[in-house]
Amino acid sequence: MTEHEIKISFKAYNNIGELSASEQQLCAEAAKAQQGSHSPYSKFRVGAALRLQSGKILYGSNQENVAYPSGLCAERVAFFNWGANHSDDPIEAVAVTASTDEFELTHPVASCGACLQVMAEYEKKQNKTIEIILFCNNGPVWIMNGVESFLPFLFFEKGLEK
Ligand code: THU
Repeated sequence: MTEHEIKISFKAYNNIGELSASEQQLCAEAAKAQQGSHSPYSKFRVGAALRLQSGKILYGSNQENVAYPSGLCAERVAFFNWGANHSDDPIEAVAVTASTDEFELTHPVASCGACLQVMAEYEKKQNKTIEIILFCNNGPVWIMNGVESFLPFLFFEKGLEK
């Protein structure tokens, strides 16, 4: 038996004001993306904004459905739009935020495993890591470079690669 330890690294900031101008702008775009949220069931509005190499911004927000599993997270709405329509323009960064009137959100929303897996696919496709910025209103900001820091055991199988 051998025991292994995996180290992940990310940067934590006290608030958005500590970020670079371009990071702050992308956070503002993610907050804007929340306006498209369709979340009558959870009342949890999530917004994601991707900044592409060309400077173009793509928006995503969580889309819920009365048949609950048919809904989709904000991140995947944004990333699948990229995959379907903009994959010749590499993704440089994504900002994700959430808000709700139901309780106080004191820490950023960490993207779910399925969304991280989707981001990892596109990092591989574009052969470049993505800066991931997670924040909540008036709370801390977490930034990591590349999905792997978040999901070290993401599914990857070379034999399935085309
Ligand atoms: N949600 C996201 O949009 N992104 C995540 O990474 C986690 C959760 C959404 C799904 C659902 O509409 C609501 O948040 C509550 O789970």
